[in-house]
Amino acid sequence: EVKSIKNICCIGAGYVGGPTMAVIAQRCPHINVNVVDLNAQRIADWNDANLDKLPIYEPGLADVIRDARGRNLFFSTDVEKGIDEADMIFISVNTPTKTYGVGKGMAADLKFIELCARQIAQVAKNDKIIVEKSTLPVRTAEALRTILHSTGNGVNFDILSSPEFLAEGTAIQDLHNPDRFLIGGEQTERGEAAVQSLVDIYLNWVPRENIVTTRVWSSELSKLTANAFLAQRVSSINAISALCEKTGADVDEIARAIGKDSRIGAKFLKSSVGFGGSCFQKDILNLVYLCRHFNLREVADYWEQVIKMNDYQKHRFSKNIIDSLFNTVSGKKIAFLGWAFKKDTNDTRETAAMYIADELLQDRAEIHVYDPKVSEEQIFADLEYLQTHRVGQYVEQGEIMSMEEIRSLVTVHKDPYNTMQSAHAIAILTEWDEFKTYDWEKVYNDMLKPAFVFDGRNIVDKDQLDAIGFDVYNIGKGK
Ligand code: NAD
Ligand code: UGA
Repeated sequence: EVKSIKNICCIGAGYVGGPTMAVIAQRCPHINVNVVDLNAQRIADWNDANLDKLPIYEPGLADVIRDARGRNLFFSTDVEKGIDEADMIFISVNTPTKTYGVGKGMAADLKFIELCARQIAQVAKNDKIIVEKSTLPVRTAEALRTILHSTGNGVNFDILSSPEFLAEGTAIQDLHNPDRFLIGGEQTERGEAAVQSLVDIYLNWVPRENIVTTRVWSSELSKLTANAFLAQRVSSINAISALCEKTGADVDEIARAIGKDSRIGAKFLKSSVGFGGSCFQKDILNLVYLCRHFNLREVADYWEQVIKMNDYQKHRFSKNIIDSLFNTVSGKKIAFLGWAFKKDTNDTRETAAMYIADELLQDRAEIHVYDPKVSEEQIFADLEYLQTHRVGQYVEQGEIMSMEEIRSLVTVHKDPYNTMQSAHAIAILTEWDEFKTYDWEKVYNDMLKPAFVFDGRNIVDKDQLDAIGFDVYNIGKGK
């Protein structure tokens, strides 16, 4: 029998839990949605009357929160109450790469997921549908089932996988008009009924043909596969960018030419300083780990190359800065435009900018950073994180720097012109639209000469900057 869901609880109020639940609540006023998290500050920020204080920046998010919060959307730290009242529980907690023990640096760390399962098992008094929203290794549902049913108290749990495909910066748009929502469930009568309960929720705003249903394992593995394919496109075009720089071809022209082929398609062909974000690297490493676990060496090596190419692209960029500045950046002011891993988000996880900063700091550069949405606190936290998690191919060779030393070399600004004043070079690390609108004549006049621009996103007008007198380096544009 298909259960009609009245109460949803989502564990994890992060980049996924917050926006997805806000949209479900907005589109389903008849369902109560409780988003719970252990992080009290995060919950307080979600509840702040001032919508500028929301813990994550996403275009359009504030409007959705305004519609639903306090009506049928609630944020709370009371995880137990959330679990107890819900007929359906989404798990949207983080699943970072393991930093210790077995699978260190590769496997997904499932300790947060396990904690959720144990807590649900302890608290639940009636049957519940559990939805994996976090990105998980294939067959995690099996582990969840074991833990959930371990108390033997007669409560039944149906486990679904419904991975999230939103991209940051366009989360609300992606949730309102998804290419597809995916639901994996068991092929039993109970399993099919559980799938239908979730289909019915999504149907409130998504056409049936955009809701794909599969087996649980296919759903779990589809998520890792989708991210691997997307990241692979970026690494593929970035590989070609290196060749362009040697041959005089232009990578953006190539992207335009090949993107017209409907078999290839135009999206995800933007060459850059390297992909970042919380998921591409983590999910591919997870996939590689799974393949190794099953003794599929060729498959593991194939996907691992996507990460290696990305490390290479970041390293190429910082090396080019050092080489161009006459082989040393020591004591030189380098202005960073952008720190977030892409535009329209304040998220900085695995951002290319921090790896570039790290390599330049190893050479004792003075780095001045401006990002319209990232806080000073976050930038220093990222640099500190790097000191203790040297997992990348190139950065792990660097020496560990003290925070004192880092603070003496890095300055975070609120004004872009101050950031660039008297700089030797500018490095563009994020493609924020506002960077295109700056008064580049003024910037040039206030800089040391030769005035270098390293455009890691190919967003500023190279011809205009060349004409002003800058020395402009792009990704994938041969001279
Ligand atoms: P996040 O770190 O922003 O949020 C996770 C939240 O879960 C944190 O606020 C944390 O405090 C909370 N949490 C952890 N353990 C908890 C527990 N036991 N009880 C209550 N709260 C707990 O992470 P995120 O970016 O939202 O990602 C969540 C999952 O979604 C990951 O598996 C990720 O791979 C996946 N995903 C992320 C994105 C994205 O764009 N960020 C997109 C698709 C999928
Ligand atoms: C990505 C996927 O696009 C989402 O579908 C997925 O849900 C999500 O990961 C996840 O699982 O977390 P996200 O990382 O938020 O979303 O952002 P993307 O737009 O995919 O960009 C990732 C990185 O690749 C960014 O650093 C971006 O600048 C870079 N990129 C992207 C390029 O360098 N070139 C491109 O053409 C596209």
